[in-house]
Amino acid sequence: MEFPATRLRRLRSTEAMRSLVRETHLHPGALIYPLFICEGEGVRREISSMPGVFNLSIDEALKEVEACASLGIGGLLLFGIPDEKDELGSGAYATDGIVQRGLRAIKATGDPKSLVVIADVCLCEYTSHGHCGIVNRDGEHFEVENDSSVALLAKAAASLAEAGADIVAPSDMMDGRIAAMRTALDEAGKQSTPILSYASKFSSAFYGPFRDAADSAPQFGDRRTYQMDAANLREAMREIEQDIVEGADMLLMKPAMPYLDVIREARNRFDLPMGAYQVSGEYSMLHAAFQRGWLEPERTMLESLLGIRRAGADFIVTYFAKDAAKLL
Ligand code: PBG
Repeated sequence: MEFPATRLRRLRSTEAMRSLVRETHLHPGALIYPLFICEGEGVRREISSMPGVFNLSIDEALKEVEACASLGIGGLLLFGIPDEKDELGSGAYATDGIVQRGLRAIKATGDPKSLVVIADVCLCEYTSHGHCGIVNRDGEHFEVENDSSVALLAKAAASLAEAGADIVAPSDMMDGRIAAMRTALDEAGKQSTPILSYASKFSSAFYGPFRDAADSAPQFGDRRTYQMDAANLREAMREIEQDIVEGADMLLMKPAMPYLDVIREARNRFDLPMGAYQVSGEYSMLHAAFQRGWLEPERTMLESLLGIRRAGADFIVTYFAKDAAKLL
């Protein structure tokens, strides 16, 4: 055979040719945009470490809902920033909690039917100590209690579903929370509300900017006793298996870019719909490079999202959702 018979470059010759043989696609409907809802009116406070991302009062959040719907974005993920916090994170499961009120406001506008409204379920934005559960403190030593935290998280899930969440998404990493939430949802008459489990959530430095955004940094210690060790892929598979057994409807993998191998392995093993969360630190580090002119914003952003899809994620939670949707 004459060299070279196979020329892979033949299929790269024009954009039309490349488009025809493209294996992975991005579309706005597979993007989910996070919103940070705070108290007040007319509030639109930019998060210093996350250019273009804001804390929004409910009236401002409603404008974002509309903007996202008209861009064809698939869904929203709601986080709350309450004015007051306490030891038990009671704002997370209060009927008039900030996200509960936000959900009702969104639903009252006849909520854009094209958007799925997802509520994050955790205590860390609502606890005075910033941990994701109930803290038992004894001098220097502290423990984040599992079972008592799960009871409150289940209450939060039911309360968010009652307020109108289309999906609840627990991000706390307590053991047994999915089963407890399924029971609490069913008892609240919310048998049809799916659970999107952050089944595989690592203890990550890439959450740093989010903790500015949500004012949820732990006041002492860290999250390593409940979030997973960054080194463990097999353990991630066990977490996922467990959540499926407990009744999870969908999976969320987090962070994304430093854990693409974990996403791929989960895709190979499990058939549930699966998303990945391109977290705050991934967004911030790209923006830092954009600001310096070191990386080209549009291409870099789309390539980062494509990589996550290629690794096997069906949908992506990303702070780039609006920017990307405008280009797609
Ligand atoms: C709450 C929660 C966190 C994120 C999503 N849900 C923070 C954390 O676990 O510390 C991080 C999201 C991001 O970094 O964009 N538990």
